[in-house]
Order: sequence, then C-alpha cells, then structure tokens
Amino acid sequence: MITFGNVTIKGDVVLSPMAGISDSPYRQITRRFGSAFAYTEFVSTEQLLLGNVKSLDMFRYLETERPIFFQIFGSDLETVVNASEIAASKKPDVIDLNMGCSVAKVSHHGSGAGLLRNVRLAGAMIEGIRKKTGLPVTAKIRLGWDSQSLNYLETVKVLEGAGVSAISVHGRTKAMAYSGSADWNAIGEIKSKATVPIFGNGDVATFQEALEKKKKFGVDLVLIGRKAIGNPWIFSDVKKENKTWLEIKDVILEHLDLMLNFYPSEDDYALILFRKHFIRYIENTGFPDESKRELLQITNVNQFKDRLESVSMDSRFLETSEINNENINCETFVSLV
Ligand SMILES: Cc1cc2nc3c(=O)[nH]c(=O)nc-3n(C[C@H](O)[C@H](O)[C@H](O)COP(=O)(O)O)c2cc1C
Repeated sequence: MITFGNVTIKGDVVLSPMAGISDSPYRQITRRFGSAFAYTEFVSTEQLLLGNVKSLDMFRYLETERPIFFQIFGSDLETVVNASEIAASKKPDVIDLNMGCSVAKVSHHGSGAGLLRNVRLAGAMIEGIRKKTGLPVTAKIRLGWDSQSLNYLETVKVLEGAGVSAISVHGRTKAMAYSGSADWNAIGEIKSKATVPIFGNGDVATFQEALEKKKKFGVDLVLIGRKAIGNPWIFSDVKKENKTWLEIKDVILEHLDLMLNFYPSEDDYALILFRKHFIRYIENTGFPDESKRELLQITNVNQFKDRLESVSMDSRFLETSEINNENINCETFVSLV
C-alpha cells in the first residue's frame, strides 16, 4: 500500500497513461479489473487556459475511478501552474506532470520529455502546482533526453526537492522513443536512491512479469501501457488466453457501451473511437479476418453489435502467439488540439 497526502493506493499494477486509450471508459474497466488507480490521458495546459472544451472534457471521470491522477503537460511555468488550478477544480486526487512524451511537437517545444533538459523548470512546476492546488503532485519521466545525457538521478533529486509525491519512470530515453528495450537496471538504481515511491514502466507484458519486476527492482508499483490495450485482464493473474470468446465478447460490448455513454453523438462517433480497442481485443483470438474487415467498416452501432454476434468462434483461443506491439506508439493516437 502506498500513501501520500490523502491518497491511498492499493495494488501492484496500473494502467499507464495513454493518449487515445486511457479515457474514462477504459479507466473504469481497468480499475474494475485491478488497475491500482487511474491516470488520465495527457492534457495540454495551454489548451486548458484557453478553455478548450475537448481538453477539459478529458478530465471527466467517475468516482469509481479514484484515486484519479490528472496528467498535464506544458513548457511555461505560469501556464502550467495556472492551468493546474483549473484541473484542480475538477477534484482529482493527484496532478501528474508529463516529463516523458517523446513526440516532437511536444518535446521539442520544451514540454513532455523536453523538461528533462530543464529539470530546474520542472522542479519549479512541481512546487508551483503543489502550492497553487494543495494537491499531491507526481511526475512521469524518462531516463534522459538521449544516451549522452542520462540525468535521471539528478532529475529525481530535483523533483524530490520540489516536493514531488511519487515518480513514474519509463526506462528509455526520449531519443529512443519506443525502440530498443526499457532499462530496468536504471529504474532499480533510481529506486535504491529515491526517497519517494517509484513506479517502474517499460515493456511489461504480463501481470506475472510486473510482479517479478516489482520484486527484483524494488519498485513500488508497475505501469503497463501497450500490452494493456485490449487486455484489461492483465491487471490480475487471470489470463486473457484462458478466457472464452463469450467472456471476451462481453467485455468488448461493455467497453463499447461505456464509450457510447461517454461520447454521445447521433453518428455513433464512439464506435469509430472504439475500433482501436476492438482490434486489440480480438488479436490472437482466431477472429476471422473477413469479419474483422467488415466490422471495421461499420459506422452504425446496432449493425456492429449484430454483426459481432453473428461471428461464430470456438469458445477457446486458437492462437497464443505474442501480441505485436511494434506498430503502436505514443504518436499513434496523439492528436493535440
Ligand atoms: C498510444 C500511446 C499513448 C501514450 N500516451 C501517453 C500519455 O498521454 N502520457 C504519458 O505519460 N505517456 C504516454 N504514453 C507512454 C506510456 O504511458 C508508457 O510510458 C509507454 O508506452 C511504455 O510502457 P509500455 O512498454 O508498457 O507500453 C503513451 C504510449 C502509447 C503507446
């Protein structure tokens, strides 16, 4: 159990923040399946200050998602601190500062992983948000900008000095984006020196692996990102591979309904948004290609549900091959308004 401020976190594994994925519907599902808390997608502080409705909307959540961490990004101290007050008015438990986004249009302007090149500024942001909102503030970092500038120990020290409550570490540099593999030894090194809880992140593929990483590297919690898409079962020791198609289909329909409620529109916009989840739910289940192609063309939700029901599947998985993560990354879904 981890506690800071009024926040108590129970559990070992959490859904990593993911733009286009970790919205309220998927957070509700993953919390129910065992994710230790809920992180929102990252939200632009500039857009919050401009009153952008879409950005504010990304902070809608249900009480069942608590503890809820609102993740924000920005490069300007005053903007970040003032926007944090707007975020705080929606009563999150924690505000998290994104210091890890590698996408050029974020990091090359000094936000996200760009803050790794100016950790004093990041420290001032943490302190400013804390004082402005009275909320616990956490940060999500990478190991450094590139392999020539691995400043993770300094970053952690500065953030601790600024009063950060916990730090999540994705064990890659900004330059690596999603290539190579996460350096868990560096994450372990951070944990051995840090005075605040450290959450480890990078390339974790199963619940079991998360527990092993937690034990081996001493981290307080493990974040799972890409492998959790279409697989909320990953947050407990219940394996998706052992689920029947009927059980998987129930979760698909539940998720779709939550999205329809959350994004109401006459043209079933939620269904379009749901496609990226759907592809991952059916991956490696032996779902027929032709039905998949048809379902991905359908724009009416009732037709989608009818067509899905008509697919005949063996109740057990046919394939157990590894889910391929290579074509998915932060840039896939990031659409900054
Ligand atoms: C589609 C996608 C969107 C992401 N969006 C965010 C984000 O909004 N905020 C953030 O801190 N990290 C974001 N990330 C990074 C993940 O939280 C995580 O750090 C990274 O994917 C490594 O973990 P994994 O190997 O378990 O996927 C995103 C990653 C992906 C794949």
